[in-house]
Amino acid sequence: MVREEIESLRAELHQHNYNYYVLNNPTVSDVDFDMKMQHLSDLEKQFPEFFDPLSPTQRVGSDINTSFTQIKHEYPMLSLANTYSEGEVQEFYQRVAKLLNEDFELVCELKYDGTSISLIYENGKLQRAVTRGDGEKGDDVTQNVKTIRSIPLMLHGEYLQKFEIRGEILMPWSVFDEINKEREEQEEPLFANPRNAGSGTLKLQNSSIVASRKLDAYFYSLLGGNLPFASHFESLQSAKQMGFKVSDAIKVCKTIDEVFEFIRYWDVERKNLPVATDGIVIKVNNFEQQRGLGFTAKSPRWAIAYKYQAEKALTRLNSVSYQVGRTGAVTPVANLDPVQLSGTIVKRASLHNADIIEALDLHIGDMVYVEKGGEIIPKITEVAFDQRFMIGEKVQFIKNCPECNSELIRYEGEAAHYCPNESNCPPQIKGKIEHFVSRKAMNIEGLGTETIALLYDNGMLHNVADIYTLQVSDLAKLERLGNKSAQNIKTSCDKSKEVPFERVVFALGIRFVGETVAKKLAQAFKNIEALESADFESLTSVDEIGERIANSVINFFSDENNIEIINKLKEHGLNLAISEEQQQEITNILEGKIIVISGTFSHHSRDEYKNMIELNGGKNSGSVSSKTSFLLAGENVGPEKLKKANSLGVEIISEDVFLQMIKKDFSESNENKDDKNKDDEIKKTTHNQPIMGTLF
Ligand code: IVH
Repeated sequence: MVREEIESLRAELHQHNYNYYVLNNPTVSDVDFDMKMQHLSDLEKQFPEFFDPLSPTQRVGSDINTSFTQIKHEYPMLSLANTYSEGEVQEFYQRVAKLLNEDFELVCELKYDGTSISLIYENGKLQRAVTRGDGEKGDDVTQNVKTIRSIPLMLHGEYLQKFEIRGEILMPWSVFDEINKEREEQEEPLFANPRNAGSGTLKLQNSSIVASRKLDAYFYSLLGGNLPFASHFESLQSAKQMGFKVSDAIKVCKTIDEVFEFIRYWDVERKNLPVATDGIVIKVNNFEQQRGLGFTAKSPRWAIAYKYQAEKALTRLNSVSYQVGRTGAVTPVANLDPVQLSGTIVKRASLHNADIIEALDLHIGDMVYVEKGGEIIPKITEVAFDQRFMIGEKVQFIKNCPECNSELIRYEGEAAHYCPNESNCPPQIKGKIEHFVSRKAMNIEGLGTETIALLYDNGMLHNVADIYTLQVSDLAKLERLGNKSAQNIKTSCDKSKEVPFERVVFALGIRFVGETVAKKLAQAFKNIEALESADFESLTSVDEIGERIANSVINFFSDENNIEIINKLKEHGLNLAISEEQQQEITNILEGKIIVISGTFSHHSRDEYKNMIELNGGKNSGSVSSKTSFLLAGENVGPEKLKKANSLGVEIISEDVFLQMIKKDFSESNENKDDKNKDDEIKKTTHNQPIMGTLF
């Protein structure tokens, strides 16, 4: 009964995923979908014996780190011969015509600008996903690929028993823009283009982050022994029917003029697509003819890629200005004569840092080439030296802050210059306040960039502590702020006093202290006084805290202004120590232990176990090695991990043993269960596991 219910829910949710992510045609509301998913997830938790790694619930990924295994490709992943010229496409056509000496068709497709992927399916199920690697062997990224909703985990209708399908994994423009916006707010380096962002994401070791990045995938090649298709086009139609996303921008052409028509049409139209493309791929359609043409050492003779020129424009450099960010990083920006590029008017371009300016040999008044390519922010790629008739002033990176005149510094090994005047440089103060109120920090609503600037300019905000002295009557006086908004801001400020200590540490905006590091510091030092007085040794002894972060923390707390601000925050009642509850959970029982988690658990989720390991001083790892202290194994523990643990003599323990080890009564999450049920529970979770012992 339950099994059938689980299976029917899985089938239904697979279909909804397909309708939404492949067909762009959802047939269920988001709420219904979420409810069904929740129901399935609850059933799977209740009945772990029906676990299936290909269940739709498994698409959320896991935050257990995994290192990738290398897999040899059955068919090498070659590349295509590239050209930027229509003349060479014509030559390709004539070469093929001569070699075949019979009628032939060409298929034109878009060339997707992402990361190539090879998927293996057997009996209708996704078995493995491997990156291109060096073409001979690639990384097994199955866990990450499973999080991509448009990739079928189970195939539709009639499918081939065993085959390989190749395609391109892409980060849609909308997701790319969103991620970069967030990174900009956090002053993290931006991704240059969706290709880099997508391939970086695919290689992340934490598949739950991959799941949050909403990647997509298009497929363009089906491989296998004895495939029942006569042509490439036919094979792609079959791939579509099996549930893969195959682009509709595909055309069978009989003449070279039809090919050119396709090229020209998509040169314009591709800009309206949700993902990046950088050209057209032209392939001989008939498989028999493809075999006849064969391969050169590097690429097939039956295909060619026509690449679109990266769009460039020539314009004049009028001046260079410098922007100061929250951390004091100074970014040079080129001010240009306005010029049309890829449908927008470009007036400014990023110059990145002093080294790039030097390498370009820029002079004011130079004619420069600006490019957009796959990049969102235009950049200067070259000076048109042949147009430099009068030489202007050489662009030299400024020595002093454009906002407060402090002398800039450059840290060893870093490309950026910084203004060190953290407490008095206006954009740094405003930036710090913006960071302090941001969602992942104190989460104060209603204080946007403009309001903060207004409050700062009116002398009502000098630092983050002043936020808590703002009065509704003062706020309401400001332009654009009514009584209601003012009241909302005040309420949100008061509410933020409940934000836990670790987020307050993050909100302080200490250089190099992001969310994760803030958490580590909060757990290790437990209160602000201990953190303030921490020395280099005690800081670097904390897991993942290196020299660079330690020095930055020491530097932050050695500034009188910062101490004064923290004292005020204390007076305003912010959480400057971890809570009693958190305190109780922290021990050093697992200090020095490296632990691998595998399988599904009954008392807590994997994430909860991972957190418990950290709170008790242990370290999580994704793969079993001789350094592993023990394998925490649940139901359906990964067979490879189990094998490796056994062969290396790594101890394997159940969740009950683990909970006893950290002195946590596992009954706390099963309060309603009587003792008999608890015994059953123990039997169930220890079932099938070869060695069970306590470590200490
Ligand atoms: S066919 C022998 N079709 O371009 C290679 N490739 O340099 C056959 N790509 O690594 C590949 N869109 O990742 C093919 N419609 C398309 C493509 C495509 C993008 C990528 C692919 C490959 C590279 C070729």
